[in-house]
Amino acid sequence: MNYQVTASDRAWAEGIFEKLHVKLKAECSRLQDGIPYIPHDGRYHDLGANDIYWWTNGFWPGILWQMYHASEDEVYRQYAESVEKRFDAALEGYEGLHHDVGFMWLHTAVADYRLTANKDSRRRGLHAANLLAGRYNPVGQFIRAWNGERTGWIIIDTMMNIPLLYWASKESGDPRFAYIAQSHADTAMNILLRPDGSSNHIAILDPQSGECLETPAGQGFAPGSSWSRGQSWAVYGFALSYHHTRKQVYLDAAKRSAHYVIANFAQNDWLPVVDFRSPAEPLKYDSTAAMISACGFLEIASHIGDHEKPLYTASALRLLRACEQAFADWDIERDGIIGKGTAAYHGGPQDTEVPIIYGDYFFTEAVLRLLGRDFLIW
Ligand code: GLY
Repeated sequence: MNYQVTASDRAWAEGIFEKLHVKLKAECSRLQDGIPYIPHDGRYHDLGANDIYWWTNGFWPGILWQMYHASEDEVYRQYAESVEKRFDAALEGYEGLHHDVGFMWLHTAVADYRLTANKDSRRRGLHAANLLAGRYNPVGQFIRAWNGERTGWIIIDTMMNIPLLYWASKESGDPRFAYIAQSHADTAMNILLRPDGSSNHIAILDPQSGECLETPAGQGFAPGSSWSRGQSWAVYGFALSYHHTRKQVYLDAAKRSAHYVIANFAQNDWLPVVDFRSPAEPLKYDSTAAMISACGFLEIASHIGDHEKPLYTASALRLLRACEQAFADWDIERDGIIGKGTAAYHGGPQDTEVPIIYGDYFFTEAVLRLLGRDFLIW
């Protein structure tokens, strides 16, 4: 893909790829088939041993498959395959599963199948897609988030899970999965996106009628505020729906979201705050928003004409380079690469301004995209 990357940016990305390879190999040798989330005292622990359902568990194997594809180093493949098998306990257990099954199985089974044509992986991917499709509310026309009493909840994050449904339709030849994905994307566009390009994190709908009842704060500062990772899910999520459907409204929605976040990132020297509409103090960063947006900008750039690309490619590079310079930890003795990730505005110290595995996933994907060495995991 020609993103129109300058020679100097390409040289930067080449250098980062070398550093990623060294650091990720060191992390692999410590973790073995463990599933990391946030390092404590510089060390990852196996979150899979406590919570095989946790929504971020796919990002480490996603990194491993991306690095395997880019380097052909078998160590990455070996550990990615081990994690994929561990996820079978979640498919079997079922009750802990949620709307984030896309994040879990796109980055494991579907990635494996795409790269190796493993038939067991295809079966796992289709199983997960059926679970995601089963969460669809046909009256409200949305995929419900979470479990329990939240029967009418729709969230912007799910835009990143519906590529599992687009994949399942192509793979099985059955259009139902893609119908559900598009129906959900249309509802998200109409209800979650705001006219100024920002997005609500959550909308609570009446599950019997689909009427929008409330838009609470979710992981942002307050109702009506602007959680930067949620805005980034919108950028990348709508760009991916365009990729799979070629419906212009999705590309327009992705661009509108992108223009909104670019204006806000630029306001703070390309180092993202957790919420664009929160008080200036305390200043809290969330680098993961930058990494997700950077991938989203590159996805948009892949669908538009040469004269239009520079805004998106240059913005992706500004984010990646600013956050790498300010927040990266390349010490191979310590786990985690991109620091200052924050799970939620009102979270505790354990998940505020720390390296988080999905920040490293999207950083890796973005760098490999710039070098033309990625594969589309979505
Ligand atoms: N999908 C949950 C989050 O972004 O924190």
